[in-house]
Amino acid sequence: MKKESSHDTIPDLSKNAATVLEKRYLRRDAEGKVLETPAHMFRRVAETIAAPNKKFDKKADLKGLADTFYRMMTNFEFLPNSPTLMNAGRQLGQLSACFVLPVGDSMEEIFDAVKFTALIHKSGGGTGFSFSRLRPANDVVSSTTGISSGPLSFMRVFDIATETIKQGGTRRGANMGILRVDHPNIMDFIMCKADQKQLNNFNISVGLTEKFMQAVERDEEYDLINPRDKKVFGRQNARKVFHRIVVQAWENGEPGIIFLDRLNRDNPTPHIGEIESTNPCGEQPLLPYESCNLGSINLGKFVKDGTVDWKKLKTVVHDSVNFLDNVIEANNYPLQQIHDMTHANRKIGLGVMGWADMLILLGVPYNSEEAVKLGKKIMKFINDEGHLASQELGKQRGSFPNFQGSIFDTKGAPPMRNATVTTIAPTGTISIISNASSGVEPLFAVSYIRTVMDKNVLVEVNPIFEQIAKERGFYSEALMKKIAEHGTVHDIPEVPEDVRRVFVTAHDITPEDHIQMQAAFQLYTDNAVSKTVNFPNSATMDDVEKAYMLAYETGCKGVTIYRDGSRDEQVLSTGKKE
Ligand code: CDP
Repeated sequence: MKKESSHDTIPDLSKNAATVLEKRYLRRDAEGKVLETPAHMFRRVAETIAAPNKKFDKKADLKGLADTFYRMMTNFEFLPNSPTLMNAGRQLGQLSACFVLPVGDSMEEIFDAVKFTALIHKSGGGTGFSFSRLRPANDVVSSTTGISSGPLSFMRVFDIATETIKQGGTRRGANMGILRVDHPNIMDFIMCKADQKQLNNFNISVGLTEKFMQAVERDEEYDLINPRDKKVFGRQNARKVFHRIVVQAWENGEPGIIFLDRLNRDNPTPHIGEIESTNPCGEQPLLPYESCNLGSINLGKFVKDGTVDWKKLKTVVHDSVNFLDNVIEANNYPLQQIHDMTHANRKIGLGVMGWADMLILLGVPYNSEEAVKLGKKIMKFINDEGHLASQELGKQRGSFPNFQGSIFDTKGAPPMRNATVTTIAPTGTISIISNASSGVEPLFAVSYIRTVMDKNVLVEVNPIFEQIAKERGFYSEALMKKIAEHGTVHDIPEVPEDVRRVFVTAHDITPEDHIQMQAAFQLYTDNAVSKTVNFPNSATMDDVEKAYMLAYETGCKGVTIYRDGSRDEQVLSTGKKE
């Protein structure tokens, strides 16, 4: 490993971050020897992503811009999604986390999609698909006068292909599988992950329509449609289907639901196509063959003297939009179709992480009206400034090519560089690298055990809690252990009352609190919000159903729930003994 110059040290790099970077992000030679330090990695990314400015401005100060990007990343104020950190400036050069591929109703189209999936996974991206165009199982196949296998059989082919690739050992391939609620095989789809050994490389979501939700409300039947001939295949009772979804989600967290008509209501380019799927974690609706790169601002770094540092936030939002737009230019796409679609719409997804950290630093409990209000204010600010930044880029660089006919194409409208600007990603790994709370989630626990890449176990004490505990003199190893075992501080008397009040965790708050926060951020997010609504193990199916209805009523675009202990393997777990 090359020695770092003092100029290039990263004071805020945590031990966990260093471990994750070394295991999966840093450049290696053919023998697997690590060739760069974290500082070199951030330089590599900063320089590669600054370079496209030259295309649009011959006099661009690339060194200055690269320094800005480098500082923004190494201060952990902003990080792009993992593929950008891993691949920028390297041979592969694939920088996006999110892709959606079409799956057409023919052998050629299905197996083309399998091949394209393999190419994307190899490059570190995740893929989403709608299987709704596939004719149902046991339907006619004219060319062979045989019968069709149906969407579920084909999903297994995608699953096995993913299993085999494992993204070159850096990142597990992730898929989203969506089926419309009016597909004839919907009941089998809802049940397809009941056996926890099945389809492990898929997240699944049912695509709900407004028509279906109305039928649920009125306790009516609705039509199942055969996608092959668009004819009515049969009818189902809407409440029966809805209840089945709820039961399965209660059992082990899947399927999730997405509201398809809402995704299309906010589709910025309806003239180009209909949105039928999202990326694997659900936050990024995309058209077939579209990809998107994400980046997240770490809100915990924007609290100064007990208040939000709006000025700094504004600067970082503008620089982040420039960064993400440049990623589209620097990106090496795995397929020509993806290159063309992505360049034509230029979607980017700027979001946040460290929201729970920010609230703690401001002394506001996550489960309070004040927090929901502030969430709206912060995201509105980021969304507004993000759109302004995209308009400024539009003036210099031109609007996205599909602008004409898009929702932005109104009389006297300013140019717009990107068809979408904001998305709230889960920030699963980049939040570890930043030592921040993930996405807009509450703290999972004040101290907990995290499993990374299946087996590597990291023990974490919330850094802000540790600091406060030390400053106020109640820190001890024994207390940290006790908290890890409890998973919450709210009933630990050694922790002062005012500290307990703000260190609320995912399990201290109600599912309604989770959904209100998701809805608050959704209000000012172009794309969608990744969020898990946590339930205690004791929650009933009724509780889950109520939460789904609340998500629908509050304007969320989808929901993922998880009842504690309902899956054999859990990514995050507290040391709590039952
Ligand atoms: O933190 P990081 O940038 O690694 O990713 P994330 O915010 O947790 O996930 C963002 C998106 O990356 C997901 O919605 C997926 O589209 C994709 N992803 C993937 O393809 N494979 C993974 N193992 C994790 C994420």
